[in-house]
Amino acid sequence: MKVLVTGGMGYIGSHTCLALLEAGHEPVIFDNLSNSSALVLEQIAKISGVKPAFIEGDIRNTDKLYQVLTGYQCDAVIHFAALKAVGESTEHPLRYYDNNVAGSLSLLRAMDRAAVRRIVFSSSATVYGDPDYIPIDEAHPVRATNPYGWSKVMVEQQLSDLCGSDPRWQATSLRYFNPIGAHESGELGDNPLGVPNNLMPYIAQVAVGRRAKLEIFGADYPTVDGTGVRDYIHVMDLAAGHVKALDNDNHQSGFFACNLGTGTGYSVLQMVAAFTAVSGVQIPCEIKSRRPGDISSSFADPGLARRILNWQSQRDLTSMAADIWRWQTNYPAGI
Ligand code: NAD
Ligand code: WQD
Repeated sequence: MKVLVTGGMGYIGSHTCLALLEAGHEPVIFDNLSNSSALVLEQIAKISGVKPAFIEGDIRNTDKLYQVLTGYQCDAVIHFAALKAVGESTEHPLRYYDNNVAGSLSLLRAMDRAAVRRIVFSSSATVYGDPDYIPIDEAHPVRATNPYGWSKVMVEQQLSDLCGSDPRWQATSLRYFNPIGAHESGELGDNPLGVPNNLMPYIAQVAVGRRAKLEIFGADYPTVDGTGVRDYIHVMDLAAGHVKALDNDNHQSGFFACNLGTGTGYSVLQMVAAFTAVSGVQIPCEIKSRRPGDISSSFADPGLARRILNWQSQRDLTSMAADIWRWQTNYPAGI
């Protein structure tokens, strides 16, 4: 299939483009480069031998999206383009609602006009808020705790209502837990602009000397060692989940949401230990107070994805840490 990949120059989108190419699909990347570098295209070409079509543009430009969808004769869309920083969304909610919600609405309008009605959407476990129970399954209540999370809930509602109004639509919402890792080649990885918000890129930057130490946000949670527990999933396992969703014959019409996680939770200290085990580098740490908005524990029940998408994660914590380390040592300053 020809697949429009919005946000395809970003972390998860670029890795998914590699998985799409490997599966025989043809990605067409649409990205405004607000949080990524055009050099990512060279890395995709270096790894895969194919340089996908790339159109620089904003998903809020409905006409441009329509021209790309029809011009490239796209069959489906994988929609990654969004702003994703929880803290920033609390400070600038309208920026997040405009970019993520209005942007998605613009995309859906362009798709309907172009008669392209198959979409895979990047959602997040953030839609569950502070969980009532773990592991978290898709029956868990959806109730975000920040504008970013609400923007994901709102787009899922758009998709659900659209599919309910017109059976020609097929939408799959993939609720990612904590994506980490990098392509095994070491030529592509998480390349955050500025100071990383997330744990693993921060640890990796400490390991190569770009940061002095890791601040651990809270060691008084009711967990195995007091630090926060999350479900870390390899970005290439996540990418494979998108290809499965795209090719899914079990779900030809309507809206469907499922978790993409490993089903296993690890604490911050366990992640630090895993990284040291593969890198040989001791990570200086300082225990600080809890980060506002953080939850204690979160990990997925991935059973629905296994049943409906015939997908489950394959890569373990050691390979996640080893792939991050390879990427970070290849490109200490990112690309
Ligand atoms: P990223 O920032 O690396 O990639 C997002 C890409 O979208 C960037 O290349 C950016 O330039 C582009 N973009 C943003 N707004 C755009 C717009 N208006 N028009 C065109 N392009 C635009 O982020 P990522 O980590 O790859 O995340 C991809 C998706 O997965 C996002 O929707 C995010 O909310 C979701 N997600 C990410 C995580 C995570 O921890 N990384 C977890 C759950 C869900
Ligand atoms: C993981 C753990 C921190 C950094 C976020 C977003 C979520 C999704 C994934 C988009 C927590 C601890 C972290 C640091 C630390 N993104 N930590 N020191 O918060 O689970 O999820 O990214 O959808 O929406 O909320 O991931 O990597 O920020 O934190 O101690 O410098 O590491 O407290 O326990 P999080 P994270």
